[in-house]
Amino acid sequence: MYTNNSPTAKVDNQHAVRSSRGGLSTILLLFVVLFIIYVEIGDWIDGAVYKTFSVDNSFSDTLQINLDILVAMPCNYIHTNVLDLTRDRTLAADYLTYEGMNFFVPPNYLLNSQHDIVTPDMDQVMRESLRAEFRAGASDPHSGAPACHIYGIIPVTKVAGDFHITAKGYAYRDFRSNIPQQALNFSHVVTELSFGEFFPYLQNPLDFTAKTTPNNVHSFQYYLSAVPTTYKRLGIEIDTYQYAITEQEKVFDSAGFGRVPGIFFKYDFEPIKLQIEDKRIEFTNFVVRLVTVCGGLIICFGWLYKGVDKLLVLVFGKKFAFRGQEKAPTFLDGKE
Ligand SMILES: *[C@@H]1O[C@H](CO)[C@@H](O)[C@H](O)[C@H]1NC(C)=O
Repeated sequence: MYTNNSPTAKVDNQHAVRSSRGGLSTILLLFVVLFIIYVEIGDWIDGAVYKTFSVDNSFSDTLQINLDILVAMPCNYIHTNVLDLTRDRTLAADYLTYEGMNFFVPPNYLLNSQHDIVTPDMDQVMRESLRAEFRAGASDPHSGAPACHIYGIIPVTKVAGDFHITAKGYAYRDFRSNIPQQALNFSHVVTELSFGEFFPYLQNPLDFTAKTTPNNVHSFQYYLSAVPTTYKRLGIEIDTYQYAITEQEKVFDSAGFGRVPGIFFKYDFEPIKLQIEDKRIEFTNFVVRLVTVCGGLIICFGWLYKGVDKLLVLVFGKKFAFRGQEKAPTFLDGKE
């Protein structure tokens, strides 16, 4: 039968018990500490998101409208214009590229449906805020292609305004047109419609949407209410605009005064400003806190370890509990 009295067995046992209990708890402690560091760093990076509204007093600003839209009509039928509250008229065509191509609705676009409310979250904004330019393309409005791809950046003043796409001779008190009414088709695909700096990967409510219509004299009206929004995280600041949208459509039998077919984007700016900020404690404070937490943990762990030792003494007696910590018998102890 196996007994502790056998000198060789005793030596083996001592080392085994001692190193396995101590070693295991050290590894456990290490894991717990690493886990806490991991969680804390993650929390710190994420911070807490605070939204604050303030009065927007940056009135005289100018900003840009970023646009990428495909209309189911040849480019040379199309007239684009921006008209704002101050009666300033911007000939949008001066800024936009017209490119003849075929009409198609890409498969993942939202077709003829109400628009979702899009509120991109902080992570998305930070990930997708790549500034960009539209590729420079040569305007080619006379290509004779059945549809027209219109894209570019229009500078506007920050007052309520109206960007519209109409047919030549079907608006502006100028109702003599050499374009037959049967040729009108305001079906359209919006790939980008945003305000402020152009971040093509940030999704706006109108992006990737399309409308088709079997009616020639159709008026699509979008009312966009834009709120200047600033996202802040880790020293990075992104100024952009979010907008909400309501829409209205009208179909007429024939075009005429007050019955203007087209695509109208009426926009306005809210007098408020939204700031979405990710706040976190300072890095040095964070490190101090982390060190404190981990130090406290290690101390507690030490107490726990001692506590368990004491418990073992109470339950199993001194001999069992401290068997690993007895001095190894030396030669002087003699043989038992
Ligand atoms: C306009 O073009 C779209 C797509 O080709 C088509 O579905 C629609 O019926 C056309 N509408 C008119 C008024 O021709």
